[in-house]
This record gives sequence, structure tokens and C-alpha cells, in this order.
Amino acid sequence: MAGRLKALYPGTFDPITFGHIDIINRARGVFDIVVVAVASNLEKKPLFTDKERIALIKNSLDEHDGIEVTSFDGLTVHFAKSIGATAIVRGIRAVSDFEFEFQMALTNRKMQPDIETVFLTPDEKHSYISSSLVKDIARRGGDITCFVPEAVKKELAKKFSS
Ligand code: COA
Repeated sequence: MAGRLKALYPGTFDPITFGHIDIINRARGVFDIVVVAVASNLEKKPLFTDKERIALIKNSLDEHDGIEVTSFDGLTVHFAKSIGATAIVRGIRAVSDFEFEFQMALTNRKMQPDIETVFLTPDEKHSYISSSLVKDIARRGGDITCFVPEAVKKELAKKFSS
């Protein structure tokens, strides 16, 4: 619909955590449509497939109104342009995130000057979570209840039991 503000929230989401959900909800408070997009072609060698990561994101959201979940290949700015997004949302958890995010934002702007990067900060209680830490704790049998939704907890348990 014309005039509706659309933002892209790209990431690896391997898997989604409460920190990501916090950013999605905040982004939804600013933009009419938030497209959460799993970046497929990464050197990160994700534990979950694209399809699994998308399903986990969908199952983890209480509110789906104005939120779309998908995956993409290639450059984030190209994908943003192709879906008509005018902004890329990124979460900044701590100062340590800033340098990399700043570099990405400026590079993306150089490639696609009409797309703005918007930085949002999660609630401080989520500011130290990362997907790798969560996977590491789960792999070693630790309790991840306070970091991820139930659906993610179950799927991590399945992955690591096999
Ligand atoms: N809550 C919890 N964790 C968070 C978080 C939040 N709010 N924000 C970031 N993180 C964590 C993630 O869990 C992840 O942790 P991990 O490294 O332990 O897995 C880490 O921070 C980085 O997360 P993410 O936001 O997924 O970024 P990324 O660096 O994995 O991916 C892309 C960044 C996908 C946006 C970027 O690589 C990209 O644009 N790729 C496409 C190709 C491209 O356009 N390249 C040119 C870029 S200039």
C-alpha cells in the first residue's frame, strides 16, 4: 500500500533469541511493515537451515501483524530495494557491535544511497545474548529458557540430542 513504511531486518538468526524479538517488536513500533529476512549464503555455516530458521522465527512471534518472514541470497541492499524497503534495521547491543555495524551501514549506503540504516537498541536485559552463546550453552546441556522461546529451545534440544 502506498505510503506505508517498510523496513528490512536482516540477520543470520541461527537461531532467533529474545534479543532479536525485542528488536523486531521495536522496529514494528516505528515501521508499518517489518520484513525479517534470514541471510542464506553465509560463511557462518548455520546450525539450522533457512527453512528451519524461518519457521523458528514465525513460531517465536506473538504478533504477526505487519511482520513478514523470509530468506534472501546476495546483497542485503539489493534485497531491500527489491521488496521496496526504505530502511535496514540493525540492533546494537553494546559498543562492541558499533564498529562493524557502522562499517556495514556506510558500505550499504555507498551501494544504495536511498536506503537508510536504522539502529535500535534492545532492552538491556537482552544486551549480552548472542546466538552462538545460546547454542554453546544448549550443546553442553545448560538451561537456555531465559534466552530463547520454547520452540527454539525444543529444536536446539533435538539438534544436540542427535
Ligand atoms: N539479540 C540477540 N543477538 C543479537 C542481536 C540481538 N538483538 N543482534 C545481534 N545479535 C547477535 C546474533 O545472535 C549474532 O550472534 P552470533 O555471531 O553468535 O551468531 C551476532 O549478533 C550477529 O548477528 P546478525 O545480526 O545475525 O548479523 P550477522 O553478522 O550474522 O549478519 C548480515 C549480518 C546478514 C546483515 C550481513 O552479513 C549481510 O548483510 N549479509 C548479506 C551480504 C551483504 O550484503 N554483504 C555486504 C554487507 S556491507
